[in-house]
Amino acid sequence: MDKTRVELGERSYEILIDSDCLHLLGERLLRFSVGKKIALVTNPTVSELYSQRIISSLTKEGFESYLILIPEGEIYKDYFWAYHILTKLLEFGFDRKSCLIALGGGVIGDITGFVASLFMRGINYVQVPTTLLAQVDSSVGGKTAVNHPLGKNMIGTFWQPSLVWIDVATLESLPDREFLSGMAEVIKYGIIWDREFFEFLEKNRNKILNRDREVLIKIIKRSCEIKSEVVSKDERESFLRAILNYGHSIGHALETLTNYSAYLHGEAISIGMVYEAKLAQILGFLDKEDFERIKRILKDFGLPIHMPAIFDKAEVIKHVLLDKKNIQGKIRMVIPESVGKMKINLEISEEDLRRAIDE
Ligand code: NAD
Ligand code: GLY
Repeated sequence: MDKTRVELGERSYEILIDSDCLHLLGERLLRFSVGKKIALVTNPTVSELYSQRIISSLTKEGFESYLILIPEGEIYKDYFWAYHILTKLLEFGFDRKSCLIALGGGVIGDITGFVASLFMRGINYVQVPTTLLAQVDSSVGGKTAVNHPLGKNMIGTFWQPSLVWIDVATLESLPDREFLSGMAEVIKYGIIWDREFFEFLEKNRNKILNRDREVLIKIIKRSCEIKSEVVSKDERESFLRAILNYGHSIGHALETLTNYSAYLHGEAISIGMVYEAKLAQILGFLDKEDFERIKRILKDFGLPIHMPAIFDKAEVIKHVLLDKKNIQGKIRMVIPESVGKMKINLEISEEDLRRAIDE
């Protein structure tokens, strides 16, 4: 198996990547000091496809497995469903040694991690991400959350998993649009950290779009390595981790303004990355050639790069002003200096932001 490690002292953990490896998870868990009871948290779609392989492997190794289903969709990543999982764990007689497995995309990963951090003041959990976005981003780094009607991801904790177990074969059942949405985050890693990786993505577009397993393992591994390095240096986002939010200041504004119904996360981030790169160009940090390359690669991977005219630009700016990275009402952003190098937490004027959005 390919592996990489998130170095966080006693909270360090491995990210293992392979294809067709779900049936080996039970054996791997024998290495951890976990009790017999394990709950698999997932949704009906993913459960139908992949639960049985994991349950059989747990049973084979002598674990008692329990299945907890959450309805499908972002709207169920909320306090009510977190409470539902907690209730189930109490009914099943779970204790401090019991363990959770999050099987699914970022929605399942975030709510399961959140519950794991709360149950009996914190228990072990394993991430088994099945979307590209979850495999390269949300399953790594320990940000857990549920949504509140007044804001997305507003209630959450930092709680690291004990293991991230990635089976690239699960991506074969993923709808194209979801796959491409995950690619936006993969491309983001090239822009924020690794120019060579960006070039690899440019050159291997067809293999990636054909979901060639070998190439997928390579790009997922590199993405996880970059995220691990960033998280290991700055777990709580005091400075460097903000780099992972490139494209998110404008992207989140577009998601919120469309009530999370028009764009998948990666699609909104793709548009955000283009406009934040435009801003970098206006400010004189990014040259035209790299700006055009950023736009081109996103377009070539079938991602949106324009903010449609239906958006009220003043509303977009208003939402960017609410971003968590801002300090004392001043807009802070991470913007590219070149492909592979970023300026972190740069103070941006409303005027420059308006120019970038207007162009
Ligand atoms: P998702 O979890 O909603 O999954 C997308 C869809 O794909 C769902 O309908 C799901 O049922 C389906 N699906 C999952 N795996 C499948 C498979 N292998 N085959 C077929 N269908 C499959 O979406 P997502 O993009 O994975 O995650 C988005 C969530 O992640 C958001 O809630 C976001 O806030 C969160 N997130 C968290 C972090 C973090 O650091 N914690 C980072 C980025 C995003
Ligand atoms: N997805 C951003 C982060 O984990 O910090």
